[in-house]
Amino acid sequence: MAGAHLSDIQTLRRRAREHIAQGAVTPGYQADREVVIKLLNEALATEWVCTLRYKRHYFMAKGIHAETVAAEFLEHAQEEQQHADQIAHRIVQLGGEPDLSPDGLSSRSHAEYIEGDTLEEMIREDLVAERIAIDSYREMIAYIGEGDPTSRRLMEEILAKEEEHADDLANLLEDLAR
Ligand SMILES: [Fe+2]
Ligand SMILES: [Fe+2]
Repeated sequence: MAGAHLSDIQTLRRRAREHIAQGAVTPGYQADREVVIKLLNEALATEWVCTLRYKRHYFMAKGIHAETVAAEFLEHAQEEQQHADQIAHRIVQLGGEPDLSPDGLSSRSHAEYIEGDTLEEMIREDLVAERIAIDSYREMIAYIGEGDPTSRRLMEEILAKEEEHADDLANLLEDLAR
């Protein structure tokens, strides 16, 4: 494979001893760390905004279908919260700081916080937000490429979950239309 190269064990050990304070970030780290941290912080804001939106929808769900839909909203809220925590952990591992400031949270987020009046509007807004997250995470994964396999894998796992969420919401919309 062109460009592929395996370092000998002495080189790996020497490099591991250099810059010990950088923790998980070794000299072999191929990505632009600052950019990856910035992208992860945007994903972190997105996950928080999604958590808050799903929580709002969970508490506000009304109507004959409310119970099933509310349960789905709550599950999604909990999963977005978990994503946020995983992303924050990774930012710290990379030597960055998770930006959890509520100021500007919604402008750092890719997805929006839209309350919606009816159950159907809520589901529709959640579906739009999931589709935004899906597109932006897919771009992030492509950007990271081989440069940082751990961050890439994390975002791939989260992306798969967002696709599940979008699918759940599309099914809920169909059920409501019946
Ligand atoms: Fe998420
Ligand atoms: Fe999601």
